[in-house]
Amino acid sequence: MTNTTTNTILVIGSTGKTGKRVVAQLESRGIKVRHGSRSADIPFDWDNPQTWAAALAGIDAVYLTYYPDLAVPGSVDAVSTLTELADDAGVRRLVLLSGRNEAEAEKAERVVMASNLEWTIARCAFFAQNFNEGAWLDEVLAGTVSLPVDDVQEPFVDADDIADVVVAALTDDRHVGQLYELTGPRLLSFRDAVAEIGAAAGRDIAFLSMPLEDYTAMLTEYGLPQDFIWLLNHLFTEVLGSKVQLADGVERALGRAPKDFADYAREAAATGVWTPSV
Ligand SMILES: NC(=O)c1ccc[n+]([C@@H]2O[C@H](COP(=O)([O-])OP(=O)(O)OC[C@H]3O[C@@H](n4cnc5c(N)ncnc54)[C@H](OP(=O)(O)O)[C@@H]3O)[C@@H](O)[C@H]2O)c1
Repeated sequence: MTNTTTNTILVIGSTGKTGKRVVAQLESRGIKVRHGSRSADIPFDWDNPQTWAAALAGIDAVYLTYYPDLAVPGSVDAVSTLTELADDAGVRRLVLLSGRNEAEAEKAERVVMASNLEWTIARCAFFAQNFNEGAWLDEVLAGTVSLPVDDVQEPFVDADDIADVVVAALTDDRHVGQLYELTGPRLLSFRDAVAEIGAAAGRDIAFLSMPLEDYTAMLTEYGLPQDFIWLLNHLFTEVLGSKVQLADGVERALGRAPKDFADYAREAAATGVWTPSV
């Protein structure tokens, strides 16, 4: 018989891709959730450390998603301070959303693992939902996805699978002390992924591979902030494509296979999200 957490769980990033799914699952089980968002009743803002202690007061477990990315400078210090504050506040358990093949993310993981808290790490591949809930939605709608990669393969992971693992880790003692590498069941190139999205959406969506300098120039021309351009460049040059392989985290945590990208694409297409409004 495993113990379950029954008190309030703080979900940081409660309106984000994984956070909103974790909130929905916890609330559907009748578990009390504190929403960690800049617009919540008790606001949580990574850019304002004054908000952190109030958000942690009276909390039993935390799902920590850092924004914008654990790769950015300052993330490890922020995770470290948050983890210490959580311990001081009497938090018992913390689940960290992390990324694969990323040095800063691994430093943040080590901070959490070295804490007094019961920890679980969800170390994730590139989310499939980046194409329908994130940065690549606009390009899919416009009909051309341009990226500074060609044949780089990635085992895209579905945010529903991540949420299932995170909820299990927050509520079931069997996941304490586990580092789960979460990937989908198949390696795909970004070109393949875009083709599968086009097939599911019933539209022609082109994939354009471009040199990094051209990509950077294009993003600058779009007026994107330099920090965000740095992050995308880091992602496509340092993170994706290195040591790429499938991992068994979903199977290990949940005893079932992860969702395939084709199923993700079919379900997302059915919502109409990839159908441009005329
Ligand atoms: N996307 C991927 O493919 C991927 C892969 C591996 C790991 N990760 C990790 O996932 C995390 C980001 O996830 P995501 O890319 O899917 O984004 P996301 O969770 O969809 O990001 C949006 C969330 O971040 C919150 N947020 C934005 N600015 C904030 C701030 N200043 N303070 C507090 N919360 C803020 C938003 O809350 P409000 O706007 O409501 O305040 C919202 O809940 C990063 O730590 C990254 O390392 C991402």
